[in-house]
Amino acid sequence: MTANSTTSDGALRSSQWFGATGRAGMGHRSWMRSQGFTPEVFDGRPVIGIATTWSELAPCNVHLHRVAESVKRGVWQAGGFPLEFPAMALGETLLRPTAMLYRNLLAMEAEELMRANPLDGVVLLSGCDKTTPGLLMAAASVDLPAVMVTGGPMLNGKYQGTDVGSGTAVWRFEEDLVAGRMTQEECVFAEGCMARSNGHCMTMGTASTMASMAEALGMQLPYSATWPAVDARRYETAQRAGQVIVGLVRDDLRPSAIMTRAAFENAIRVNAAIGGSTNAVIHLLAIAGRLGVPLALDDFDVLARDVPTLLNLQPSGQYLMEDFCYAGGLPAVMRELAESGLLHADAITVTGSAVGANVADAPCWNREVIKTMAEPFQPAGTGTAVLRGNLAPGGAVIKQSASSPHLLKHRGRALVFDSPTDYYAVSNDPDLDVDEDTVLVIRYCGPRGYPGMPEVSNVALPRKLLLRGVRDMVRICDGRMSGTAYGTVVLHVSPEAAAGGPLALVRTGDWITLDVPARALTLEVSDDDLAVRRAQWQPPAAHASRGWTYLYTEHVLQADAGADLDFLVGASGHPVPKDSH
Ligand code: FES
Repeated sequence: MTANSTTSDGALRSSQWFGATGRAGMGHRSWMRSQGFTPEVFDGRPVIGIATTWSELAPCNVHLHRVAESVKRGVWQAGGFPLEFPAMALGETLLRPTAMLYRNLLAMEAEELMRANPLDGVVLLSGCDKTTPGLLMAAASVDLPAVMVTGGPMLNGKYQGTDVGSGTAVWRFEEDLVAGRMTQEECVFAEGCMARSNGHCMTMGTASTMASMAEALGMQLPYSATWPAVDARRYETAQRAGQVIVGLVRDDLRPSAIMTRAAFENAIRVNAAIGGSTNAVIHLLAIAGRLGVPLALDDFDVLARDVPTLLNLQPSGQYLMEDFCYAGGLPAVMRELAESGLLHADAITVTGSAVGANVADAPCWNREVIKTMAEPFQPAGTGTAVLRGNLAPGGAVIKQSASSPHLLKHRGRALVFDSPTDYYAVSNDPDLDVDEDTVLVIRYCGPRGYPGMPEVSNVALPRKLLLRGVRDMVRICDGRMSGTAYGTVVLHVSPEAAAGGPLALVRTGDWITLDVPARALTLEVSDDDLAVRRAQWQPPAAHASRGWTYLYTEHVLQADAGADLDFLVGASGHPVPKDSH
């Protein structure tokens, strides 16, 4: 394995394919020329792969072919040779049981494609939730120069004269439908109003969060996270990224030099400032694991405690990504952090410059959307909190800004369900033994349990409570929650129930105490009683005996370790494999 993307004689990695003499080189070049390329493209210029997660089954990414065309323009301009290739597209809304089951498969597939092909650098085109972390994990493990270009958010949804945010509005529409405040016909009409352009969810959900994380980590160009998918500047940025990647190959600036511990600390603080998704916790842990960067679940609590929420965006606030873009985008937020000493300003980015220089002059055009450190949207310490206790010895998280303040300290009796399906089978029952103080426990939703750790934790409230006007209650789950969602929901309980975590031992009627200020989650059952219950506990049957689901459930790590597969943690670099013929 060479130390960088060049061979020992200084030639680029791709020269081992296209620069080869004899039969092998002829084979590598001749079949490529079937696409109509002239021979000069094999003159030793950087070969740039464009990994696109385009698919009509991933509607948030369906415009990435056009984004790729803009990237190609930039690569050609800068003297590179662009080659677009598909990587597994993960459509959050369609894939069952959950797109998260396949994040690691995308990461594994893309890693192998990057290593096995004659590439000197890659541009990563992503959008929908899992595609961004999946490609970053792959790029981290290959460590070829890489630039990410996310596809950008949809335009604001518009329904009955108001802005509606993707995902966030769905939860409200569903509650309104159940409570009789909205008809089925109105819901169908609203569907079209909510998703009216190309792009990913335009709330600060997981896609917007991970696009922001990619920018905060230094892996995509400034402003990339926020240009709407249909904005011409999205395509300008893509073209610029094509130019930039050729420079990164020539300078041999690789992801391992960009995604350092300092960069991850920046990303964690930015996530707090933007009111980002709890899913960023899992994804950043997984990416860091690929790079050998020491990052722990508690870092997300410790580093975020001094950071107020600056962004007034749904689901925590009022506005949407289009508004964020016009207000100044992520650089305006990062400038606020930098000027308060909350950013490692010297962290290097794909621009070749340090992040501090990138954001030093970033303007803000709307202080309703992007608040200041002096007058934040929500005070410091209201971001994602990490909880521990006998119910979550490995940790759990809660998004405080999406929770009801009066529930952050709460004691209630558990009402336990072994799946969301079991819960929904009775949630409309007027005789369900539940009130607003009840703690709903939904389990077997973790990485191994569901499998794939879906976004099912924020189950809708029981109908009898909705009809009484109750809008929130404490829910505890070993699954995840959509970044577009809200509610007082304890997530990512680790170890999960299927792995024998204490969550599996809770019984209906047990008292549970949630104390977010003290970062505590306590099951009020004695250790002796828990030991008796543990002796009686039977692990659930395996989900599969073959295929990806078998491999996944045999090897997936718990949420507090990023839910990567144990054998994918770390990096294999980009050695040139043996020839094929
Ligand atoms: Fe694709 Fe939300 S469903 S980003």
